[in-house]
Amino acid sequence: MSKIALLGYGVVARGVLEVLAENGALLARRLGAPLEVKSILVRRDFPGDPNAGKFVRDFAGICADPEIEAVVEVMGGEEPAYTYTAAALRAGKHVVTANKQLLAHRGQELLDIAGETGVNYLFEASVGGGIPILRPLRECLSANRVDEVCGILNGTTNYILTEMIQCGTDFSEALSQAQALGYAEADPTADVEGLDAQRKICILADLAFGRNMPPEAVSAQGIRAVSREDVEYAQRLGCVVKLLGRALRLPDGTAAAYVAPHFISKTNLLSHVDGVMNGIVVRGNAVGECLFYGPGAGGRATASAVVSDVVDALLHASRRKDWGWAASGAPEPQSAAAVVSRWFLRTDAGLAPIGAAFGNVQFLSHSGAPAGEYAFLTPPMTETALLARVGDMPLLSRYRVLD
Ligand code: NDP
Ligand code: HSE
Repeated sequence: MSKIALLGYGVVARGVLEVLAENGALLARRLGAPLEVKSILVRRDFPGDPNAGKFVRDFAGICADPEIEAVVEVMGGEEPAYTYTAAALRAGKHVVTANKQLLAHRGQELLDIAGETGVNYLFEASVGGGIPILRPLRECLSANRVDEVCGILNGTTNYILTEMIQCGTDFSEALSQAQALGYAEADPTADVEGLDAQRKICILADLAFGRNMPPEAVSAQGIRAVSREDVEYAQRLGCVVKLLGRALRLPDGTAAAYVAPHFISKTNLLSHVDGVMNGIVVRGNAVGECLFYGPGAGGRATASAVVSDVVDALLHASRRKDWGWAASGAPEPQSAAAVVSRWFLRTDAGLAPIGAAFGNVQFLSHSGAPAGEYAFLTPPMTETALLARVGDMPLLSRYRVLD
């Protein structure tokens, strides 16, 4: 019998219990022994819950229990998740997590602790929900120099945008639906403001480039400012509005990452990633572009990645995974203002300032646009160059365009 503990009893933890119950026999065959959740760390009562016999309030008991081989941290947040994870790793237990917030901020430290005690710290569920992306990036694409990772990394915001654009649902109704479906973070501001995607692009950049990409180095813009007018202009251009996280190797050998809503051309596969689905494109110098697509959030989909990590940790208990994630080393992170894009701009500044800043541009028509409002695409340029040209011209909206 292999025994594990769950920290937290929310959407993902319940998904894990469901998958273990449904696929118990199959997992036992794969592991050579049945897999059992011995303890579940909770901080409140769940009256009449069928798992009440497993509930514990004290993490120290889990940590000291020699029967528990692996701990699954699905509480979220930085503390006490960091303290518990570090203690479990130091006690010689494997830790599996879905907690991208903790990973983006302190993942490298925790991997070092895992290295000292020779156990595994596995986190496939932290990016892309059920999509296998971190192992393929680190292992199956290890022959490549990865030049770019770009994707729709947040299921909640993709669900909201899809509902708003395709069904006309309003923002708060779409967010409530995403919460009810178990997609959103405990504090959904993290989804809506782009912070969840920021944490995920950091983890992807950490593995793709082999050094820490701190969240502080990654600008994050969410979807709150996306307006009906922007969506309509995007449609006229043959594009859709999607929230993207991007991490790129720049020509000068540095790397940059950012999160922002984009106009994505309908010829780009990412434009067809709708609802809770996520899509992540990895560009390697040998393979070219690979697209990873699947459910980006939800209890069962995320549990698929968590339970698979548990199986991996227990089956290969003595083989420590090398994630190649170092505290420093090239490429150095720098601001995303150096990333070149075409830009969509919408302004009511008047023709003269637009002409002075951008020369002869072709304006986009929109029957509902108020008089004096102009929208146009710029040639490719960095954000630094764009801002220098825009100066104090008031902008109603600006988006990078991805062809
Ligand atoms: P939930 O909010 O549904 O569940 C979190 C659980 O952890 C709750 O039961 C909460 O207790 C419990 N908890 C929090 N702090 C403590 C503590 N100090 N001691 C004991 N229990 C605690 O979150 P999710 O299950 O959705 O998410 C869990 C993790 O997985 C997060 O890191 C999230 O970012 C990540 N994740 C979630 C996905 C999803 O689709 N939901 C997908 C991928 C990753 P209480 O009920 O009392 O608040
Ligand atoms: N809140 C996250 C999302 C959960 O919506 O993508 C999956 O990480």
